[in-house]
Amino acid sequence: MVSPKTPRLFSVLLVFFACYVSPSSSRVSLSASPTTLTRANRTVTVRWSGVDSPSELDWLGIFSPPDSANDEFIGYVFLNASDGWRSGSGSVDIPLVNLRANYAFRVFRWKREEVNYRHHDHDNNPLPGIRHRLAASEEVRFEAAAGPDQIHLSFTDREDEMRVMFVTADGAESFVSYGLDAARLGNISATMVRRYERKDMCDFPANSSIGWRDPGSIHDGVMKNLEKGKKYYYTVGSDAGGWSPIHSFISRDGDSNETIAFLFGDMGTYTPYATFYRIQEESRSTVKWILRDIESLGDKPMFVSHIGDISYARGFAWIWDEFFNQIEPIASRIPYHVCIGNHEYDWPTQPWRPEWSYGVYGKDGGGECGVPYSIRFKMPGNSSFPTGTGAPDTQNLYFSFDAGVVHFLYISTETNFLQGSDQYNFIKADLESIDRNKTPFVVVQGHRPMYTTSNEIRDAPMRERMLENLEPLLVQNNVTLALWGHVHRYERFCPLKNFRCADVTSNFTSIGGAPVHLVIGMAGQDWQPIWEPRPDHTDVPIYPQPERSMYRGGEFGYTRLVATREKLTLSYIGNHDGQVHDRVEILSGQILKSEDEKILQSGGDAVLVESVLPWYVKAASVLVVGILVGYVLGLITRSRRDSLERSQWTPVKSEEM
Ligand SMILES: [Fe+2]
Repeated sequence: MVSPKTPRLFSVLLVFFACYVSPSSSRVSLSASPTTLTRANRTVTVRWSGVDSPSELDWLGIFSPPDSANDEFIGYVFLNASDGWRSGSGSVDIPLVNLRANYAFRVFRWKREEVNYRHHDHDNNPLPGIRHRLAASEEVRFEAAAGPDQIHLSFTDREDEMRVMFVTADGAESFVSYGLDAARLGNISATMVRRYERKDMCDFPANSSIGWRDPGSIHDGVMKNLEKGKKYYYTVGSDAGGWSPIHSFISRDGDSNETIAFLFGDMGTYTPYATFYRIQEESRSTVKWILRDIESLGDKPMFVSHIGDISYARGFAWIWDEFFNQIEPIASRIPYHVCIGNHEYDWPTQPWRPEWSYGVYGKDGGGECGVPYSIRFKMPGNSSFPTGTGAPDTQNLYFSFDAGVVHFLYISTETNFLQGSDQYNFIKADLESIDRNKTPFVVVQGHRPMYTTSNEIRDAPMRERMLENLEPLLVQNNVTLALWGHVHRYERFCPLKNFRCADVTSNFTSIGGAPVHLVIGMAGQDWQPIWEPRPDHTDVPIYPQPERSMYRGGEFGYTRLVATREKLTLSYIGNHDGQVHDRVEILSGQILKSEDEKILQSGGDAVLVESVLPWYVKAASVLVVGILVGYVLGLITRSRRDSLERSQWTPVKSEEM
């Protein structure tokens, strides 16, 4: 039966299309090639010609799936990106990721008088208008059986395992095939499959037709019974759906006396097109330099710590796909570990929202409410927190593992960490159970900082609770380093205890008592806070900093941790030159054990055995130890290309985190 309202609606639609949506012009031609993308070639060339009176506002929309409405593009490129655009013809090359749906392209004319500043992106740039569509391309597809992608590794709770996750379109039965010989991948594990649905997203834009795209099926496979510290080769997929290229990784080695990790927060994603949010162009450099380090360090166990604010998808689903493709060159080779950040989780309806937190927890998650984060990653441990909405629980909140000589603990600053909470109890029990003979160093990581000298006042109530509830645990348990993100700068503090610098001459030989805090949220997101001025320099907001802040860096980059049984070194690498710009070195006090004694495992108990070294070797060892301990009694910094660095600090942009 036809509703009485139908004729009126029909005429309104007719008028709308007649007035606002020009039919595709027969004069403008638009083509895309190749129309089938392969694993080896994922770049499409889009060509156009016949555009009359070309304007700088003419734009090319990228659509997937191809039947998306005109305002449901995933991104856009202005035609003036092509050198010859003024002639009305041109082309652009666009690398595409497999969104498990075809792509199509459309050219639009956007007139200056139609610019609508109320319809804007996150930076308040108006979104391009869709009233005049000039042309549409044919569809571009990915070849069938191209195999899975978005491959990323992570540790499990067992040292002889390695987890690998990846994405397929259909969730069909898939496997991990692995072994020590690239030509004979004789071990096979089947994968578990999980998905999340549009209804699991808690709000706009994540649950809208603008932001939602099918995320595919997320596969989770575990490679088992791995020998320590060996190079393993693997491929993932199936005969029906295709196999990935063969990747390799170095298995964990709990006996290793060396630890290497790359740590940072707030990296985000680069996309080769503009979209609804500003993209993080610098994230490409972070990936590039870490890859350089992986190559140069050789075949050793290493891993990544990305401590929150991961893809910055914030409800625009395809940005997660772009992110996992971007990190795959790293994450398919070394495990990629994460903390949850506000941009994965934050939303007013989230279940943990204490009275003091209003203003702290807002809408930064874009309606994802932690669901993509929880399903797309699987970290060690089994922490979870109900969403209360029927959507999958929030996972990967707090966990820990040993890597060589360092114990790493990851925490969630987004969910309850107060005394009495499950998380608090976990943190306390974890820190109190560390075997410091095995791991003389302890690194705690979370997203929002306990200490920062940025002027970020929104999180002040959070910092107060962290100081009140968590700092005593860090101090009492001699945590070596506390690493935080969220503020998109690098900042290193003195060894801290309740805002006071500890006496560095009395610390660190006994391992800690005052953790060195660092903010390392400089991996890609470029919204910057301004620094807190020193009271006696209020007119100079950036420099100098308060005494407790030992080094501030405005350059994008990451940190590289290298630890031996004797010494942990954390270096800050700047993306602009790939060089070290700050460094902190901390001694374990265990140098005597490694130099002069051997630890034998006997029935699970560590037994110290005196070595039989000659007296003069012992004397020399003591001398070396003395020099080293004197050199860095606790904390040493080789930092500072002083005036040069300071003059290069980037200007303040905004206080958004
Ligand atoms: Fe953040």
